[in-house]
Amino acid sequence: MDPKTYLDNHRQQRIDELFEFLRFPSVSARSEHKEDVRKCAEWLNKHLNKIGLDSQVMPTAGHPVVYASRLNPKNKTTILYYGHYDVQPVEPLDLWKSPPFEPVVKDGYIYARGATDDKGQLFTHVKGLEAFLASGQDLPVNVKLLIEGEEESGGENIVEFVNQNADRLKADIIVVSDSSMFDKNQPAVTFGLRGVAFVEVKIIGPDRDLHSGGFGGSVPNPINVLSRIIASMHDDDGRILIDGFYDDVKPISDWEKKQLDKLPFDKDKYLAKVGCKGLHGEKGYTVFEQIWSRPTLDVNGITGGYQGEGGKTIIPSWASAKITMRLVPDQEPEDISRKIEAHILAHCPDYVECEIVKHGGAGSVSVPTEGPWLEAAARAIETGFGIKPVFMKEGGSIPVVAAFKSILGLDTLLLGWGQNDDNAHSPNEKFSLQDFDRGCYASLALVEELSKVEV
Ligand code: BES
Ligand code: MN
Ligand code: MN
Repeated sequence: MDPKTYLDNHRQQRIDELFEFLRFPSVSARSEHKEDVRKCAEWLNKHLNKIGLDSQVMPTAGHPVVYASRLNPKNKTTILYYGHYDVQPVEPLDLWKSPPFEPVVKDGYIYARGATDDKGQLFTHVKGLEAFLASGQDLPVNVKLLIEGEEESGGENIVEFVNQNADRLKADIIVVSDSSMFDKNQPAVTFGLRGVAFVEVKIIGPDRDLHSGGFGGSVPNPINVLSRIIASMHDDDGRILIDGFYDDVKPISDWEKKQLDKLPFDKDKYLAKVGCKGLHGEKGYTVFEQIWSRPTLDVNGITGGYQGEGGKTIIPSWASAKITMRLVPDQEPEDISRKIEAHILAHCPDYVECEIVKHGGAGSVSVPTEGPWLEAAARAIETGFGIKPVFMKEGGSIPVVAAFKSILGLDTLLLGWGQNDDNAHSPNEKFSLQDFDRGCYASLALVEELSKVEV
């Protein structure tokens, strides 16, 4: 049986297996799920061994990595696949129409946490490789798979792992399916990702909550103070007011502008997709430029004071915020974190305490926009989806991809099979069954196409 027929004949089986994979609540950010994360790694490891890869679970300082390979000295080309088996937290749980770790198919979509990000997408490559191995054909390329367990919690252990295992991970090209197509029935090759920098800030006022009638007016209110600091970070045109924030940002190139302008944009459709009354972004840029090519700063969460039922008249003791910035070439996360720290300290009055924690981040990613690897990927996508891909960028971050370039010197093919309305990180995450299928066929074609690239 040839590999394509194998895929034709095992459709239900691969859905059932993906469901098994999706049932693990592998939430990397939550310590109560540590065992679930490990069990998920064990399951994946067993599955990869079963299909004929040489797989092992390897420890890191955080959650383990699953590393698998199949090498044959007569193959010239080596592909390194990367993906992540961890998922985002599921809250708010009450908004899920079916439980996040009990996958179901509804209206042509698989619903479950991790369906699109990234279990479903990475599984297409597992099934593509399986199709070769099960059909008795050996692979025309060497393959290595690196599947991590803490991408969603911004863990830096994977970068350390790549550093420590640089020899083992040697390859010619990297393949990652952990992003989106341009639109339904419009696959894409992605030529850039934004980076990210992450800081937390806590403002501390009185050493306990105080009666707001008894003391309000005489003591600082940490929520008011924090709000003013946050408000000082943008102007009315959506520009970021942190000193030096744009120093390393290059203007969008003419080539990139032209490329993005080719992509159709329908404001009403976009508004419906985001479910929002209106749009707001940096003035002077198109939406694609705003989300893919320009840096941003967003508060992801803000905490403090009384949020329970009814009212409570207090001056809260403290307030805190989690802030991320999306970065573009050539901004560096450490540099940007230092700049926001300086901004916060400069805007924080001396009658409150201010604690700032700078978490790690990741640089942005730019990949070549032409060349034999890219052409091979485009052909494979056309084979799998029956549609030629367009060129686009993405605004999200896959932290290790920048490290692949800096440590291994390798470029990455970013071939997303998801949709930007798949509800990744949101309630009711989903992945189109049809795209799961087409991704498997594209993956199969990709192995063949990449094996023909001259190395
Ligand atoms: N798969 C996403 C990255 C992504 C999102 C790529 C949208 C393209 C479009 C990945 O799992 C992710 O969510 N990354 C985090 C990284 C962060 C936790 C450091 C992100 O971008 O927020
Ligand atoms: Mn992902
Ligand atoms: Mn994600």
